[in-house]
Amino acid sequence: MTAPIDATTTSAWAELTAARADFAPDLRAWFAADPERVERLTLDLADLHVDLSKNLVTDEILASLVRLAEQTGVAERYAAMLEGAHINTTEDRAVLHTALRRPAGAQPALVVDGQQIDDDVQGVLDAMGAFATRVRDGGFAGVTGKKVTHIVNIGIGGSDLGPVMISAALEPYATAGIQARYVSNIDPFDIANKTKDLDPETTLFIVASKTFTTLETLTNARLARDWLWAGLTASGAIDGSDEQKTDAVAHHFVAVSTALDKVAAFGIDTTNAFGFWDWVGGRYSVDSAIGLSLAIELGPDVFRELLAGFHAVDEHVRTTPLAQNVPVLMGLLNVWYTNFLGAQSHAVLPYAQQLSRFAAYLQQLTMESNGKSVRWDGTPVTTDTGEVFWGEPGTNGQHAFYQLIHQGTRLIPADFIAFVNPAYPLQDDGRDVHGLFLANFLAQTKALAFGKTASEVEAEGTTGPLVAARTFAGNRPTTSIFAPSLTPSVLGQLVALYEHITFTQGVIWGINSFDQWGVELGKQLALQIAPAIEGDAEALAAQDASTQALLAYYAEHRTR
Ligand code: F6P
Repeated sequence: MTAPIDATTTSAWAELTAARADFAPDLRAWFAADPERVERLTLDLADLHVDLSKNLVTDEILASLVRLAEQTGVAERYAAMLEGAHINTTEDRAVLHTALRRPAGAQPALVVDGQQIDDDVQGVLDAMGAFATRVRDGGFAGVTGKKVTHIVNIGIGGSDLGPVMISAALEPYATAGIQARYVSNIDPFDIANKTKDLDPETTLFIVASKTFTTLETLTNARLARDWLWAGLTASGAIDGSDEQKTDAVAHHFVAVSTALDKVAAFGIDTTNAFGFWDWVGGRYSVDSAIGLSLAIELGPDVFRELLAGFHAVDEHVRTTPLAQNVPVLMGLLNVWYTNFLGAQSHAVLPYAQQLSRFAAYLQQLTMESNGKSVRWDGTPVTTDTGEVFWGEPGTNGQHAFYQLIHQGTRLIPADFIAFVNPAYPLQDDGRDVHGLFLANFLAQTKALAFGKTASEVEAEGTTGPLVAARTFAGNRPTTSIFAPSLTPSVLGQLVALYEHITFTQGVIWGINSFDQWGVELGKQLALQIAPAIEGDAEALAAQDASTQALLAYYAEHRTR
């Protein structure tokens, strides 16, 4: 195992520490003195036009940050990942989500641990495409021969968030007369609510679980199976015999997993199961068979376009020097804000209602990856890690939490994401509504960067204490990511961008960004507490005082 390089011992870190000491950011002055700042700090990454100029960095700081990436071996670790080194040290696994989007016929062929990776990836993609086409054209139908109209993806975490985010984002591409829904939560409301208006005869369930052991997913899968059997039996579509129930499952359930033996044990025909591999982390799996619901809803061609977008960014990262490498630079800026300027969170603010689930998706990607206190060799981290990622689409956020970003006491770096062309061009009284929307995106980043001085407020006639209230300090850092349209490829590019930002930060912090041991304890305890909920005295006695008191409240107020 290559030991992580402690970033805090590098000369670049010392440079940044010194730069921080007398740092007084002044975007107004920097812009005034340097007409080339915007051009120098704007970079194109495939279709993404990325303006970094409104970040709180000078050229010197940026150069030190790039040296930090060099001195901590970011490029070397990326190369190690691409060639299949077991950089997921705690699970002794390769990390090869980038292989999922290599184009067919990519050379040289990727062979890792004896596995012909490209052949296997293309094989599953072809199978997914063929199956999606059959569902879309009615060749694969329900048990009574009716065409599928609704797909319900049952999965959680990485087996849910990617598909659900992309399904919403690419809604304009869903033309097949098939709608996807997503059930994730073990809260019974979720499945009850998502199935209550569905017809069992035209519903197809996809059980998506990398491990096929996840409590939520397997519970929901059993509930779905019961719902299917009950509905089909009630309508007389099946007679309720075991044979017909098995047949119904074969027509209404497919699975996506790395554990096809467990899929078979659940009763799903493995000819309708799509595999992937342990070298795909759950939160990096949307471009594996986990995206099956997307291939069905949006079509296999759209799914391939999405993958091509991911790949374009992978190639940029692989071939672009660190100083122009967009995800690396954005990761470095996050390190600057987190470790030197004290930022604790990072807002992602898409000016696209279609990206309503983007922040939720990024929360798993970034926080499950980099929310760690030990490094990949088991030693403690040497600096803060893992910001809280959060956000909502503009302009909704403007009327909710932007106040704090503009005038609060905390530093919150924000990424603004916008698209030149709307999915649905609409006019209001002769005015292009999307233009108005974009004016808000531009206005917000401008206000955050340049603020409003007291004299500007006074010049508008304000006096007294109101002057201070109406003053905006500015120097609130933002990155603007602009693209022509929210196409499948552009969406793939955006997701890959954040994957590689996360990777860059992980390397600098010496973190294994590909395990998630922190979710285990709660899972174990839930299994221990479940019997206590059901009244088991021994399990109850084993709990701490607070848990016992909460269980007593539960017992007292339970009505059903
Ligand atoms: O609980 C965390 C986690 O392991 C995630 O990393 C993963 O995406 C999710 O659970 C779902 O896991 P699975 O796909 O195996 O059901």
